[in-house]
Amino acid sequence: MEGPYSARFPSSPAGEKSRRAPVFRGTAEERTRSRSARPAKARTMDRTTDHEFHHRPVMAQQIVEAFAPVPAGWIIDATLGGAGHSTLLLEQLPQISVLGIDQDPDARGAAAARLAPFGDRARIAAARFDAIAEVVAANLPAEARVVGVLFDLGVSSPQLDRAERGFSYRLDAPLDMRMDPSQSLSAAIVANEYEERQLTRILRAYGDERYAGRIARAMIAARPITSTARLAEVVRDAIPAPARRQGGHPAKRTFQAIRIEVNAELEVLPVALRAAIALLAADGRLAVLSYHSGEDRIVKQVLREASTGGCTCPAGLPCGCGAIPTLELLRRGGLTPSDEERLANPRSESARLRIARRAETTP
Ligand SMILES: C[S@@+](CC[C@H](N)C(=O)[O-])C[C@H]1O[C@@H](n2cnc3c(N)ncnc32)[C@H](O)[C@@H]1O
Repeated sequence: MEGPYSARFPSSPAGEKSRRAPVFRGTAEERTRSRSARPAKARTMDRTTDHEFHHRPVMAQQIVEAFAPVPAGWIIDATLGGAGHSTLLLEQLPQISVLGIDQDPDARGAAAARLAPFGDRARIAAARFDAIAEVVAANLPAEARVVGVLFDLGVSSPQLDRAERGFSYRLDAPLDMRMDPSQSLSAAIVANEYEERQLTRILRAYGDERYAGRIARAMIAARPITSTARLAEVVRDAIPAPARRQGGHPAKRTFQAIRIEVNAELEVLPVALRAAIALLAADGRLAVLSYHSGEDRIVKQVLREASTGGCTCPAGLPCGCGAIPTLELLRRGGLTPSDEERLANPRSESARLRIARRAETTP
């Protein structure tokens, strides 16, 4: 089944769009809107199979255990990546099928190859995950039951490790950082066209960068900044020498902040989480893996809101405001990876897994 949002197991080589976006000269607000909230009508063709797509799924066993109790139906993997989690779910839970979503054509190509052996139990859609409701409507029959939704947020290892994607401060390449190469906003535009005030705000809000103002001023003075190596150098030089030696690579927080801005990562997350909760059948499970405090704060807030139904009654008193909780939180505080996993897979280090169950609600 293929709808406007689907790109299911492509069998032909891709005519992928150019990675370089045309320079976009609107206001910041217009640029934000120019990021496609939904995929284009025309189907995005994926690349052919990529056997070099290596991403180790984080907290894999805990994810399988989280979904093990669900009834028969569909799990939506909202961040399919190379299908590491989806493959394990399909192998270990015979009652489920998977509809995977990813906005990155490289990820979808790799996932298509891995999921092909599961035949009709696996489908893939090209979309941004805040369009999850439309993706489900376009790809699953109306009677299909959504029994699980998984979000494994952020970037995959290949996105970071492939220099040409322009995400990494360790590998020199043109500044890019778009998960969806067809969108217009890229890291080059953020670095070269944002005003000082905007740059300072995103470095502070999305990177927790203490030297946000200094870095923003240095970036503006160094324009044009066209490569990852040049941006890393400008950031390093903007930070006072003693601070450069603390907390990892000096450009780490700036790169994270620009990546989050380019991909609208924190803007779309609450929208997507609320839509996912609404899609879930009773007793279905929601599992969310986040990797930094900005993400986790949003996850926690949306889950808390759903688990109280927005109840405003004083604590300790029975609810009299008519709020209807739609989620039951299965573990307060969330789960973190074992020491063994942290050692074996440094990218799991900051992971936090929150799991919730869809409550029975009467309309
Ligand atoms: C951490 S990786 C997922 C890895 C996957 N769980 C696995 O085990 O192979 C995150 C993936 O989600 C995708 N992604 C991130 N934000 C997205 C969004 N808003 N919409 C669609 N895909 C997104 C990225 O392109 C990336 O491939």
